[in-house]
Amino acid sequence: MSDIKTAVKLNEIIDRSYSPYSNFKVAAKIETDDGSEFYGVNVENASYSMTLCAETSAIASMIAEKGLAKISKVYISNSSNKICPPCGACRQRIAEFATAETIVTMFNCDHSKIVSKKFSQLLPLQFDSEIL
Ligand code: THU
Repeated sequence: MSDIKTAVKLNEIIDRSYSPYSNFKVAAKIETDDGSEFYGVNVENASYSMTLCAETSAIASMIAEKGLAKISKVYISNSSNKICPPCGACRQRIAEFATAETIVTMFNCDHSKIVSKKFSQLLPLQFDSEIL
């Protein structure tokens, strides 16, 4: 699926975001190396810190539906006019299943802004228990 088609698809599902506290809707898609696609939206909670980010819910969907897989692409859209780079916690969660070559593409609400980064640019010097 092209970047623009993905942005349009994310805008179709973003209203499922449960975000009554922040009113900031986020939708994410994860693509695995065999081309499978998994979606997620942010899910907030009255106990604010229990909120699930869209990227995290997409990862949960990937594991539930497919099991262990390599993430080749991550797409993130949001309801604002700015792009929404993944938060630090989501970068760490993505790292578990990504490679340095994984591409993260971020769209603003009308996809007039599209920014792509290699995962290694978003999380340089990532933690790896193998090197301890
Ligand atoms: N949020 C995400 O879904 N992904 C991110 O990477 C950053 C933030 C959500 C969490 C919360 O529901 C809202 O955006 C405002 O922080």
